[in-house]
Amino acid sequence: MGAIHIHGGIPLQGQVMIQGSKNAALPILAASILTKGSNLFSGCPRIADVEQMQMLLRSLGCVVRWEGDKMRVDAHRVCSGSMPREAVTGMRSSLTLLGAMLGRCGQIFLEQPGGCVIGSRPINLHIDALEKMNVKFARGDSILYACTEGLKGAEIHLACPSVGATENIILAAVLADGCTVIHNAAAEPEIVALCAYLNVCGAHIEGAGTACIRIEGVKELTGSAFEIPADRIVAGTYLFACLAAGGSVFLERAPVKEMKAVLEVARALGAGLQCTGTGLYVQAPNTVKSVPCVRTAVYPGFPTDLQSPLLAVLAGGMGKSIVEERIFEDRFRVVPELLRMGAKIRVEEDKTAYVEGQECLRGARVTAGELRGGAALVVAGLGASGETIVEGKKYIDRGYENICRDLRELGARIYSV
Ligand code: EPZ
Repeated sequence: MGAIHIHGGIPLQGQVMIQGSKNAALPILAASILTKGSNLFSGCPRIADVEQMQMLLRSLGCVVRWEGDKMRVDAHRVCSGSMPREAVTGMRSSLTLLGAMLGRCGQIFLEQPGGCVIGSRPINLHIDALEKMNVKFARGDSILYACTEGLKGAEIHLACPSVGATENIILAAVLADGCTVIHNAAAEPEIVALCAYLNVCGAHIEGAGTACIRIEGVKELTGSAFEIPADRIVAGTYLFACLAAGGSVFLERAPVKEMKAVLEVARALGAGLQCTGTGLYVQAPNTVKSVPCVRTAVYPGFPTDLQSPLLAVLAGGMGKSIVEERIFEDRFRVVPELLRMGAKIRVEEDKTAYVEGQECLRGARVTAGELRGGAALVVAGLGASGETIVEGKKYIDRGYENICRDLRELGARIYSV
């Protein structure tokens, strides 16, 4: 399973380059299927989920290869083949192949997509919206079959601003007949990046980053070159790592404009922050303060993906804080592992965590069960006294190119075993 070994209590110093965004790269790679041409992506993170997506694209007929530090995806020939089960069921973002393949081939067989066990992860919003666009579905135990005789533009009102559902609708709409309007659309930066890429390829999309997105269907999309933006969640993780361990760091390429809510919380915890044109300077306080209440929300609110790393920081700080999870129904799974490190956290109804800071956690052998919970255990280990071993490195590798390499560049004593 692989593990990460951390010698805690060492303040961080130095600078690190923030990798490309996992949650921008994955839908953009899926979207490349819609182009009858060759695409060249720079800044694509070398993470396990991207490798899985590469496998899926190849199984559908794309030619995918690294060219130095850029990734080439040639989608001249795409056919709805059977996709490797482990790649589909291993990650949620395989779901975006639904919209892309319907747009390209008009049909797709898809095993029930996987992803982090942070809730039930339903797909009703995806299905309801695509049915309005002239898609027919047949569902087996764990199989989804979708087909269309021609995608039609539609007016869609999302019950909640689902990131994945917004992405799937956009992917189905760009080559559809007519205009599609998405109301209550997700406004995350990853949606903006996806629409920017598709517009470079010849799509007509307006309103990305707002709650109302309008897509005018076009006949064809051409391949293009595109740079994947930096990962705001990785930048936030390393920001919290510095708060937990102490010290001062520079996060090069940190997308500070997309991190307002995170920076506001960091300042409340006592961090000194300086946003520059090329990144973010972080100065940790001697002791992390408490915060009355932090509630996760859709963008531009505090991101649910940084809720677990925040818990780790608060647990090693001082005073009483409250963290409310309002996006997923089971995203406090890391708490039992933090308790093994001496944390004092009480969770009520899987929605609210009451944290009493212990000023310093103690190293322990702990186990990651999902991506951001695993990152939170690394953050906790950096601030804890003694040695921490985090089992389940494979979960962390899904979203972090090389968390040990990055944190060693910041002076941490951390290595994978
Ligand atoms: C994306 O997941 C991200 N994953 C998640 O990041 C992120 O936490 C999430 O958006 C929220 O920002 C990728 O981009 C690959 P949603 P997604 O659809 O699209 C409910 C990480 O750690 N919902 O916005 O699955 C759902 O249950 C991952 O990088 C329905 O009810 O998130 C949840 O409560 C974890 N029906 C809420 O909406 C649906 O059909 C938000 O989910 C779809 C979603």
